[in-house]
Amino acid sequence: MRQKIIIGNWKMHKTIKEANQFLLDFDDFSKSCKAKGVELGIAPSFLCLESLTRKSRFTLIASQNVNAVDSGAFTGEISIPMLQEIGVKYSLVGHSERRTYYAETSETCNAKNLALFAHNMYPIYCVGETLEQYEKGKSKEVVKEQLVKGLKGVKADDINHLIVAYEPIWSIGTGKNASVEIAEDICHFIRTTIAGLYNETCANKVRIQYGGSVKPENAKAYLSCEDIDGVLVGGASLETVTFKALVNTIL
Ligand code: PGA
Repeated sequence: MRQKIIIGNWKMHKTIKEANQFLLDFDDFSKSCKAKGVELGIAPSFLCLESLTRKSRFTLIASQNVNAVDSGAFTGEISIPMLQEIGVKYSLVGHSERRTYYAETSETCNAKNLALFAHNMYPIYCVGETLEQYEKGKSKEVVKEQLVKGLKGVKADDINHLIVAYEPIWSIGTGKNASVEIAEDICHFIRTTIAGLYNETCANKVRIQYGGSVKPENAKAYLSCEDIDGVLVGGASLETVTFKALVNTIL
């Protein structure tokens, strides 16, 4: 039985002060999620990571990005050892905003995925097609290529700890969430692709999230699907009232 997992992706929102206020408002609630077996996580800005690992009861704290190299002349980058020192165990890899605005490719994501596993950290590997690719019926082709390239060389033992987030780009921040049928179809396809690349056991262990305009009104429908183990939530994770309402739909 895979544990349900809800992660808030704060993107470039919240100062340290604002993040600390959110934690205060959320504290007892995160405790009750833990008690009910729902894994709750936040991916804040780099600056807020330490506060979250020290002060919060969130069971999963993820950075939004990471560099594949341990140290070096890479101005503006953050390395895996830097994250590990403050207790961060997960990182988003290949979020579509990073692919679109910062030229990340499945190859650069692959280097990050491999480096994270080599340091016993875990990627939340984001995949998903553009509107144009969706309209041309290429969603599965695109997602498969992102999986094959992004996971190249990752060992089967590591795949068990992988989280994949399916986020169709046309649904992110647009209010146009993918229908539950589309989301389940692609998440199922991701699982069968992993079974083909590895084996059934790995495929049954990988946790797969849907992301893209998830709100309190639609979260439960996604989380009730067989192959959707969680949701990755942007806008609706920024206010405690909305995020609590969203999580509450499955408690
Ligand atoms: P959204 O963002 O929920 O605001 O659409 C999701 C994401 O980018 O992870």
